[in-house]
Amino acid sequence: MQNGSQVTVRPARNVRGTVSLPGDKSISHRYAMLAGVAEGPSRIENYSTGADCASTLGCMRELGVSWREKENGVIEIQGSGLSLSPAAALDCGNSGSTMRMLSGIVAGQKFSSEMVGDESLSRRPMERVITPLSAMGAHIASQAGKPPLRITGAALKAIDYTMPVASAQVKSCLLFAGLYADGETRITEPLRTRDHGEVALRAFGAKLDRRSSGQGNEIIIRGGQRLRGIEARIPGDLSSAAFFLCAATLFPGSQLTVPSLLMNPTRARLLDVLMQIGLRISVTQLDEIHGELVGSLQVEGAGLKGATIAGADSAALIDEIPVLAAIAPFTAQGIEVRDARELRVKESDRIAAVAANLRLMGAQVEEREDGLKIPGAQALHGAELDSYGDHRIAMAFAVAALRAEGDTLIRGAESAAISYPAFFQTLEEVTER
Ligand code: S3P
Repeated sequence: MQNGSQVTVRPARNVRGTVSLPGDKSISHRYAMLAGVAEGPSRIENYSTGADCASTLGCMRELGVSWREKENGVIEIQGSGLSLSPAAALDCGNSGSTMRMLSGIVAGQKFSSEMVGDESLSRRPMERVITPLSAMGAHIASQAGKPPLRITGAALKAIDYTMPVASAQVKSCLLFAGLYADGETRITEPLRTRDHGEVALRAFGAKLDRRSSGQGNEIIIRGGQRLRGIEARIPGDLSSAAFFLCAATLFPGSQLTVPSLLMNPTRARLLDVLMQIGLRISVTQLDEIHGELVGSLQVEGAGLKGATIAGADSAALIDEIPVLAAIAPFTAQGIEVRDARELRVKESDRIAAVAANLRLMGAQVEEREDGLKIPGAQALHGAELDSYGDHRIAMAFAVAALRAEGDTLIRGAESAAISYPAFFQTLEEVTER
């Protein structure tokens, strides 16, 4: 039930049905950017409905790329080639992905760009892209490493760079900048992060090399490569599916089908963890579209053991940890999250937000600098919660509320629209009371 910006979620008996998800957010951003700098038209089906991906399209339009939205989430983009046109301020809204990845493209232009964001984005760290892009020759002014950014484009030179933080946004930013650089840009990531940037660049015709060594995963891109437009259908968003899969995990006997879901191995760690907790999962109709794996998922709730998420898993599950933590009290052994300090600099401080909301629902939680320890076998009661303006916090607690005693009110629930505007409606459709 939705009332302005707050939503009341009632406890449920079960979860059942079919959930078809809008296109993956990470892939949508990258396709919109690469289609814009490709040559010729692209036709993208099932583009993300989230406000973040609309921010990326808005910025591309400012940069002179023409596109139009057809019926049913189809976007047709007319590529401008690598050279874009000077823009008024580029409004990235709430989207860190837009600001970080697009900065790699505007850094290679012959003009200056101003990139701005909302209050939450204005608090987020940007030195992770400022440092390497400056080493490539761009000039970037910021507010002590935070937005707004003023990026003066330059003839970029290739660099050999080891990223200090495992971030797919930074990796994509530098690969995109590498298209504009003179020579071979080499990027090493300390932990394997999602590879949609690499997969998308190949889909648009670029050549990349990859090497794995003791130091990590190295990706190499040669500058000056021209991209060509594609026709593609974006697989359903796995991080949005996480909310429904976790809801199904809460109810033994639940049954959900999720057709055409993204199954990219660098994103699918969630499925292993949910199986370990007790969800039965089967996958059919596996297919590959432009290098991205897609499949249909059938799941059944069967048990609620616990899990520990640490090390490389924390990077691989970074967007799913809030909802896994929100269902942790209902598991038998609880959930412990370590090595996830990055959660503190997402759309909100997600460690603090999860701990505060779980406590309001009556749970015991140990909050740590880099994670959380949430004991299992706890009963939660409904409460008045805050989304902290963060889409994943709003959706995570709508899921926890399904197993609480009494109603839960979520303030700032409209933030779900950042990645998934239809979330609350779809959740209602699959919930039995
Ligand atoms: C994303 C990477 C992750 C993730 C974000 C989307 C991407 O951030 O949290 O929601 O599309 O590359 P980092 O780049 O900070 O790891």
